This record gives sequence, structure tokens and C-alpha cells, in this order.
Amino acid sequence: MSRVVYVTGAASGNGLSIANRFLRSGDKVVAVDVDGDGLGRCQDEDWKEYSDQIVLHTGDVTLEEDVDASIAAGRKAFGQIDILVNNAGITGNEQASTVHETPVAEFDRVMAVNVRSIFLICRAALPEMIERGSGVIVNIASVAGMVAFPGRAAYTASKGAVIQLTRALTADYARHGIRAVALCPGMIETPMTKWRLDQPDLRQAIVDRIPQREIGSAEDVADAVFYFAGPEARYFNGAALAMDGGYVSI
Ligand SMILES: NC(=O)c1ccc[n+]([C@@H]2O[C@H](COP(=O)([O-])OP(=O)(O)OC[C@H]3O[C@@H](n4cnc5c(N)ncnc54)[C@H](O)[C@@H]3O)[C@@H](O)[C@H]2O)c1
Repeated sequence: MSRVVYVTGAASGNGLSIANRFLRSGDKVVAVDVDGDGLGRCQDEDWKEYSDQIVLHTGDVTLEEDVDASIAAGRKAFGQIDILVNNAGITGNEQASTVHETPVAEFDRVMAVNVRSIFLICRAALPEMIERGSGVIVNIASVAGMVAFPGRAAYTASKGAVIQLTRALTADYARHGIRAVALCPGMIETPMTKWRLDQPDLRQAIVDRIPQREIGSAEDVADAVFYFAGPEARYFNGAALAMDGGYVSI
């Protein structure tokens, strides 16, 4: 039976691959992104043949009213939301580096996009999931939630918070038939990482640090999300799962 999957940051990188993965399997997708032009491009290039299965919503996931409107749009189109994939995220601008160099406003922005958004989305979606007695929440954290990224204090703190928020969801809602999982990707080739991976020396240094000696793809992330959202993963609840070619193992 097809499921309704709410995906944030769906216009680019991991979010686009995640949306595509569920669409290909016959599921329905509520695609949310602040980048309306990006969503339009995906509609023309990737989602043309899935027009019956997808609803697009342009909105900022840090804003309560936008989040509530996107959840309402999903319910209006498809009746209910079965799976939340909280994927939208940012690393912050160049100034978002060490603690004493990060502007306060940029710290707040990173925390809002990466953490507050998940709180708002879950807050809006959970009452209906509780009533139904089922639901799955996949939060896209990062290995930066497990080990610190030097010079990326706000991002590191935000992804640690995503892992703990996931555990809080499990602690409070597992008894309602709801599962939450934090997926923690390592280095994945997407528009977010392009500027670094496009520099051959930097790319090599990154690859050398990964035991498996390869960069992951957005399709790897999408396949993992698909699995953890599905019935075969029924006993995963509250877990923070690294998918990183071994990055955090050494
Ligand atoms: N690429 C990697 O190496 C990597 C590794 C670990 C974790 N992640 C995580 O994966 C997620 C997706 O990253 P990506 O690499 O695909 O990045 P990306 O920059 O390609 O895509 C992020 C998307 O989120 C959207 N977005 C940003 N702020 C938003 C907001 N306020 N409201 C709604 N949408 C917003 C952007 O418009 C964009 O479409 C992020 O949470 C990121 O931290 C990425």
C-alpha cells in the first residue's frame, strides 16, 4: 500500500533523491522547500511523470506558520502523513566557524533550520499520528552529531541536537506506535558539499580520511531512508545510525 511521505529540503541533494526514491516505489510525497524555483525545476525535470503522487509546498521550515501550512497541504492532498523525513539543513555561511568567530545571528539560523524545524514539523504532525497509532520519523542528522567538525561549531551542535531530539521522540511516542530514527551521513556529494569536493586536493584529503576511500551519494542516503522508514526496520527506534564509509570508526 502506498504511503504519504513528507520530505523537507526536497528541491536539492539528499532531499531530492529521497523524494525520487519514494515516488519510484509508488508512494506519495509532500515536497517542501524554501526554494520555490528549485521545486519548480524538479517538477519539470524529475517529477513530471509523478504529478498524481506529489504535492509541492514552498515554505521556510523555521517558521511555524509555513510548517503548519505545509502539513495541512499534505493532509488536504493525501488525507494523512505516514512518514516525516526531516532533511532540510544548512552548514551556515563562511563566518559560521569556531565559536568565537560565529556571529550570533548565524548560530541561531543554523540551529533554526537544522533543529527548530524538526521540533515544529513533529509538533504539527504528531497529534494525528498519535490518534492513528502509527508513524515514522526519519531525521537527517550527520556524523557531525557524533564527532565534531573542526571550524563548524554551530553545525556540530545542531546535529548533536538532532540526535537527542530523535531520542526524545522515541522516549515519548514509541508507546503510540511511532518510530524515530536519526540517519547520520558522512561526506555525501550534493550541492552542499560541491565547493569542497570540486577542489581536487581537498577531495583527495577527504577521501583519504574515509576508511572505505569513497564519497557517498545522495542515492545512498535515499536508500537508507527508504529502508529505515519501512516495515523491515520496525525494531529501530531512537537509533543514531552512521552511514559514512567508516568515517567515525577510526
Ligand atoms: N551533503 C553531505 O555531505 C551531508 C552529510 C551529512 C548530512 N547532510 C544533511 O543532509 C541534509 C540535506 O543536505 P544536502 O547535502 O542535500 O544539502 P543541499 O544544500 O543540497 O539541500 C538542502 C535543501 O534544503 C533547503 N532548505 C534550506 N533551508 C531551508 C528552510 N529554511 N526551509 C526549507 N528548506 C530549506 C534548501 O533550499 C535545499 O533545497 C542536511 O540536513 C544536511 O545537513 C548532508
